[in-house]
Amino acid sequence: MTDTVWMDTENDLLCCIDQRKLPNETTVLSLSKAEDIYFAIKTLAVRGAPAIGIAAAIGLYAVSARFHETESAGFFYALKKTADYLNAARPTAVNLSWALSRMVKTAERNIDKSVSEIKAALKAEALTIYSEDIAVCRKIGEYGVGLIKDGYRILTHCNAGALAAVRYGTALAPIYVAKEMGFTLHVFADETRPLLQGARLTAYELCANGIDTTLICDNMAASLMQKGQIDAVFVGCDRVALNGDAANKIGTLGVAVLAKTFGVPFYVCAPFSTVDFACPTGANIVIEQRAPEEVTELHYKQRMTHPKVKVYNPAFDVTPAEYITAFVTEKGILKPAELRNYKERHA
Ligand code: MRU
Repeated sequence: MTDTVWMDTENDLLCCIDQRKLPNETTVLSLSKAEDIYFAIKTLAVRGAPAIGIAAAIGLYAVSARFHETESAGFFYALKKTADYLNAARPTAVNLSWALSRMVKTAERNIDKSVSEIKAALKAEALTIYSEDIAVCRKIGEYGVGLIKDGYRILTHCNAGALAAVRYGTALAPIYVAKEMGFTLHVFADETRPLLQGARLTAYELCANGIDTTLICDNMAASLMQKGQIDAVFVGCDRVALNGDAANKIGTLGVAVLAKTFGVPFYVCAPFSTVDFACPTGANIVIEQRAPEEVTELHYKQRMTHPKVKVYNPAFDVTPAEYITAFVTEKGILKPAELRNYKERHA
């Protein structure tokens, strides 16, 4: 399995697969300018909650490696300004601010050192964030596989696989581990309107990794569940509130309501970097609103609706805790109410 985001350590660059072009073209972006990194995150060249955090951390290092400041206070000021700028690229996934804040705190801890020592500390921290993601996603896979039986038919929404992290992903990690264990699974991938992360990315990476996959339109999940053809739902998430409400790609809430109606377990896979202990409930989560053209034009040969029609295009919705059977984390399987117990250790 190849990585989605990484650091070119010789040239101090952020590298990532350009997901806007998948599945038809695999191209790699190599970035070191703040504006280019911001644009790559904003336009979903790099996307998925863990991946945007890692890209921002590596990107912040790549930008700061090129700062000309020779004195620590000036360097820190420029670093903080760049971190704030990158953090504004997308509001919903907490991993972005989590990773950038780790980088800024690293610089703060080393503020009495020389600029070149601070740069070295930032490089090490970005590489740690990168390698931690691989280990954390692997753990999510190892815990999550305990919820899967050989022959399961699993529904997933959006893309919470390798392309949404460095490797393995979150919701797809248990599926990859199950495959390694010799399980035969079938995955149904919601196409995920309007940006088609399910059709373009999930179907692509699952098929490329030898997982039997069927693509469905978002409005087909109900009929599959009604016919008893889904054994479990696995999704990722972008921000979990302290009460266990979870924001994920628009359409996740509908899938959760269906799963409850038809008695299908609904699992949310998330590293602790996605839990926002400062956010009391899902009502406090800022939902990104995106451009109308994503709905009316982006994946059509020509605009497919009336020019005057209004468009509602929130990128995420919030699934209330009571619809979530369990969270699959790197620390184990937790009921939504159990998240609070981890506050002291992670907040
Ligand atoms: O807008 P996107 O494509 O970045 O949204 C991604 C999702 O909603 C994913 O399901 C979520 O980030 C979980 S990723 C492991």
